[in-house]
Parts: sequence; structure tokens; C-alpha cells
Amino acid sequence: MTTTDPAPHPHATADEVQAALQDTKLAQVLYHDWEAETYDDKWSISYDERCIDYARGRFDAIVGDEPLPYGRALELGCGTGFFLLNLMQSGVAETGSVTDLSPGMVKVALRNAQNLGLQVDGRVADAETIPYDDNTFDLVVGHAVLHHIPDVQQALAEVLRVLKPGGRFVFAGEPSTIGDFYARWVSRATWAATTTVTRWGPLQSWRRPQEELDESSRAAALEAVVDIHTFDPADLADTARRAGAVHVETATEELAAALLGWPVRTFEAAVPPEKLGWGWARFAFGGWRRLSWLDDHVLHRVVPQKFFYNVMITGTKSAAGA
Ligand SMILES: C[S@@+](CC[C@H](N)C(=O)[O-])C[C@H]1O[C@@H](n2cnc3c(N)ncnc32)[C@H](O)[C@@H]1O
Repeated sequence: MTTTDPAPHPHATADEVQAALQDTKLAQVLYHDWEAETYDDKWSISYDERCIDYARGRFDAIVGDEPLPYGRALELGCGTGFFLLNLMQSGVAETGSVTDLSPGMVKVALRNAQNLGLQVDGRVADAETIPYDDNTFDLVVGHAVLHHIPDVQQALAEVLRVLKPGGRFVFAGEPSTIGDFYARWVSRATWAATTTVTRWGPLQSWRRPQEELDESSRAAALEAVVDIHTFDPADLADTARRAGAVHVETATEELAAALLGWPVRTFEAAVPPEKLGWGWARFAFGGWRRLSWLDDHVLHRVVPQKFFYNVMITGTKSAAGA
């Protein structure tokens, strides 16, 4: 981070939260600064084989066979660094720059990179106005970030500006329009069921303290402000082409896996963490892997692309540099 980058601001006042309900970018900063230090735990993010394989799997699923490594890579909306740091560990890029609108996230991502011994620098940056020179990067990546950005076409035009001619971008983990509908529905139902049955005598020890549940509900209100878009894969591809990208491709994945994953994550957020041991973690991860297999080998053959939850997109800057 540079000395002019803003500092993390993890404890927003009630007035700031109120203002953020009308200002999506302020909401992004408050919401993500607030969750930065606990984000890896909340989303079971790690920097070991499990998440290295996951990040690399998403990259390979959309990029296919490409000569690796890329030289210098940039991540937009890096959060704690989950995507780029794990891609770098798998050999996708040699050096990296992590950026995010939330100073708290950049701080955690840089700390994670340092702990992993990776050559990474970082900036607080808005994806719509990327603070790097033209033709700087060989690769630009992002995971679960495009749906937060008000002007996606402007952000993709910025991506193409900072890419070198022939450079590639890869975005993964974006919600499809249909996937987001069923994910929200099963998550709401899981939250309501869990917080209702844990009021009942013998199950009360499975109830989180009321103030934690209230905090989650307030966070959910801000979530509605920070989650701006869902994507139809074909429309997203058109947006990328309008921004100037060439060789654009999209893919989707996770249908059965998402129908398990969303209730699992919601249940984890609704009960005290000490109640869920290794047996639960094995069930959740094993179940997700088995259902991902079902998605990849069976459902993908019979269900249209747009019904899957995760949208991925890749494309390149024309080799002529235009
Ligand atoms: C859902 S999180 C994903 C974080 C990380 N990429 C991951 O997959 O774990 C979205 C991230 O995008 C960041 N973000 C939101 N709007 C942004 C913008 N306009 N420019 C850059 N980053 C943004 C948020 O601060 C947050 O860290």
C-alpha cells in the first residue's frame, strides 16, 4: 500500500451505515472493512492444497491450456487475496499486485502474501479507475467482484487499458441471474429454519447470542446494497466485447453443488462455530466435491448454462493493442 492509500475503517458508526444505504461504494468499503479480518474464516478460505486446487480449477476451466506462468498479474477486488495468491502458488503468475476498494482487505491480502513468501504489492483501488499505467500487466484476474461494480463495462475497459497487448483477463465466481435467485431462496429458508428451531429448549445451545444474530441481520441489509448485479453469461460476454475485449468466452458451473453450498454456509453462520467440528467440514467439502462431479459430468450435458450458479469469463486485449 502507498502512504496516500486510506487506512482500514472496521467499525462504522450507525450514521455511516445509514449513509451507506444510499451510497454503494461507501457500503462496499464499510461492509468489507468490517469483515476483512474474519473473512478467511467465514468463507473457509485457506492457502493450502484445498484452495490452491479450487482457484486453479476455476482458472483452467475457463482458460484451458495456456503457456504458464504469466509474468505480472493484477487482481481486482482481491479481498484477502484468495484468488491471485492461490493462483500464484499454483504457478499461474510470477509477481502480483492486489487491489481492492476496501483498505482492510488490501491490508489482509498483503499480510497473507507476505506469510506465503509471494512477491506481491498492493493498492487501495476502484476497479472503475485502476491506478496503474497502460500496458502494465500480462494477466488481470478477479473472483466474485464484478457483481459489486456499478459500471462493469467501464471496469472491463480499464482492465484492457492496463493489460499489455495480447494479455488475458479471467473473472470467476460471479452469480448467474437464475443461480442467485435459488441461492438466496435456499439461504433465507435455511436461516429462518435454523434460527427458529434453535429457540427450542434442547437446541438452545446451538443458538448464537442474539447480538451476533442481530449483527448478521444488519450485515445482510448492507449486503443488499453491495450486491449490485447478477449475470446472464451471454450478456456479460457482450459487455466485455463492448469494452473492447477479443476472444471472449464464458462458462458456468455449480448447480447441485450450489444447492448444497449455500445452505451449508448459511447454517455455519447461524450456529456457534464450536458446534461444527471436522466431521461437519468433511461432510461439507466431500458433499460439495461429489455434487460438483455430478454437475460437471451429468447436469452440464442436459441443463442450459444459465441455470448454473457461477459465471466465469475470459478474454484478451487484441495483440495489436487497440
Ligand atoms: C465478495 S468479495 C470477494 C473477495 C475475493 N475476491 C474473494 O473471492 O474472496 C468482493 C470484493 O470486491 C471489493 N470491491 C467492491 N467494489 C469494488 C470496486 N468498485 N473496486 C474494487 N474492489 C471492489 C470488495 O471490497 C470486496 O473485497
